[in-house]
Amino acid sequence: MSALSALFSNGSAVVSGGASGLGRATASALASAGLPVTVLDLPEACARLEAEAGVTAIPTDVTDAASVERAFAAHEQRVGLCRIHVNCAGVIGAGLLFSRDGGLTADAFRRIVDVNLVGTFACARAAADQMRRAEPNAEGGRGVIVNTSSIAAYDGMVGQVAYAASKGAVASMTLPLARELARFGIRVMAIAPGVFSTPMVNDLPERSKEVVTGLLPLFPPRLGEPAEFGQLVVSTILHPLLNGEVIRLDGGLRMPPQ
Ligand SMILES: NC(=O)c1ccc[n+]([C@@H]2O[C@H](COP(=O)([O-])OP(=O)(O)OC[C@H]3O[C@@H](n4cnc5c(N)ncnc54)[C@H](O)[C@@H]3O)[C@@H](O)[C@H]2O)c1
Repeated sequence: MSALSALFSNGSAVVSGGASGLGRATASALASAGLPVTVLDLPEACARLEAEAGVTAIPTDVTDAASVERAFAAHEQRVGLCRIHVNCAGVIGAGLLFSRDGGLTADAFRRIVDVNLVGTFACARAAADQMRRAEPNAEGGRGVIVNTSSIAAYDGMVGQVAYAASKGAVASMTLPLARELARFGIRVMAIAPGVFSTPMVNDLPERSKEVVTGLLPLFPPRLGEPAEFGQLVVSTILHPLLNGEVIRLDGGLRMPPQ
């Protein structure tokens, strides 16, 4: 039995945005440790997901709270109460306030916040609701939630107003969530990744990619691999004292203004 599957009896995990990139690697890491994993992602992303032992996908839109509730209920019915939840659903949505295409409107801003922030909240709420009903482990622990922020929360570049605002808020809600859920034995952490080789980054326009990949002055001078994110998620879940904090995972990268 792996340390992860020994952490909670009948443990299982839900990974939102788990059909691609960092979420995909996290779902694989959790499934390889022996946990049944449910991936929540948009229908088209779920349809592209290759079959993997221990991983089941449920089409879900995290901006729709009812869709999130249904997906968590389906997870519970399938494998029992969720004890580990990792929030990776997100969109990058770069945009200048003023540009030839009309610029970043309030509606476009709201859409990014809706996915990255409100979606994270809806999933964390549904996950915590299952965790608080679970049997505690020997230390009283019932579950762990890991949200995904970004280094844009701290070093937002020009064009990242909406993205940085949404990720800053994900970072800011870590401590109050951890404080509120402590009485149930639920820990809440966030990871703020630097730049990782995922479709979100690989599909950027060439010019933006050059900026991002030209910025890697420290060590190692390369993009992060999604499996390295999954590795930190697993370590975070296993470490009993990690709670209410945001961990930068960026090889020392600090983004310049533009
Ligand atoms: N890749 C990076 O360098 C990087 C850096 C910092 C933060 N992040 C964050 O990490 C998370 C994962 O990013 P990634 O790089 O793996 O991107 P990705 O595009 O590969 O994966 C994101 C996933 O989220 C899903 N998603 C988007 N909107 C959704 C919705 N409304 N409902 C359900 N699922 C939805 C997508 O379908 C996709 O599968 C995101 O929150 C992103 O902002 C990524």
